[in-house]
Amino acid sequence: MTTISIVTGGSRGLGRNTAISIARHGGDVIFTYRSGAEQAQAVVAEIEALDRRAVALQLDVGDIAALKPFADRVRTTLQSWGRESFDHLVNNAGHGEMASFAETSEAQFDQLFNVHVKGVFFLTQALLPLIADGGRIVNFSSGLTRVSYPGFSAYSAAKGAIEILTLYMAKELGSRSITANAIAPGAIETDFLGGAVRDTPEYNEAFANMIALGRVGVPDDIGPAIASLLGPDNRWITAQRIEVSGGQNI
Ligand SMILES: NC(=O)c1ccc[n+]([C@@H]2O[C@H](COP(=O)([O-])OP(=O)(O)OC[C@H]3O[C@@H](n4cnc5c(N)ncnc54)[C@H](OP(=O)(O)O)[C@@H]3O)[C@@H](O)[C@H]2O)c1
Repeated sequence: MTTISIVTGGSRGLGRNTAISIARHGGDVIFTYRSGAEQAQAVVAEIEALDRRAVALQLDVGDIAALKPFADRVRTTLQSWGRESFDHLVNNAGHGEMASFAETSEAQFDQLFNVHVKGVFFLTQALLPLIADGGRIVNFSSGLTRVSYPGFSAYSAAKGAIEILTLYMAKELGSRSITANAIAPGAIETDFLGGAVRDTPEYNEAFANMIALGRVGVPDDIGPAIASLLGPDNRWITAQRIEVSGGQNI
């Protein structure tokens, strides 16, 4: 049976690449976008060109009240595809925020924790009845939970929380044969932080110098790795933090 994956933040960057990589591996995809409706439709067209099904649904993961109604929209989409459940949830959506520990505002902190922690917690909870037994959850963490980089205290603390949450998901959902893993990308060239890693040559070079494979990452370094993790060969991997960084800061 063809798998169905949900990817949050699939309109751009790593989520977009993950959604398309899953389709290349033969899966159908429901993905979300926050504001980029046009970009989302372009991703739908790209997946359909691969002869796979795709639907883009609007969602702000930080809008906690919207998460249960979103689950209802997912149920309706699944029914239109002749399924009662889906197989994979990839919690990717999120933004970056750079501020020193001394200067991080409460609003910045709350926004980061709302999207990266509370949103992931309650979105996954709302979707849980729709995840098939034997399903998979992948949560996006960051290389910044292993090494510190000034300016990311709130962001990295939120990603650290996601790694602990991943352990609990793996433990509590294991009885349903659902796995949960955290993917921790290193510095990747996307729109993240205004495209800082991609568009600022000094940053790009500085990060490249920290990476064993000698360059910063691109979305094609991440999406195919996740599609592969979701495949049948990796069914026994759970509760792991998997860094996908080309060997950053080793
Ligand atoms: N790039 C890196 O170097 C890097 C490294 C480590 C971890 N990560 C993590 O990887 C994930 C993806 O980052 P990226 O580099 O792909 O970023 P990106 O290029 O900026 O893309 C972000 C995606 O997430 C969506 N999004 C952002 N905030 C959202 C919200 N509140 N609710 C719903 N959707 C939201 C965006 O939708 P719209 O376009 O509609 O706004 C977009 O599709 C994030 O969790 C990030 O923390 C990135």
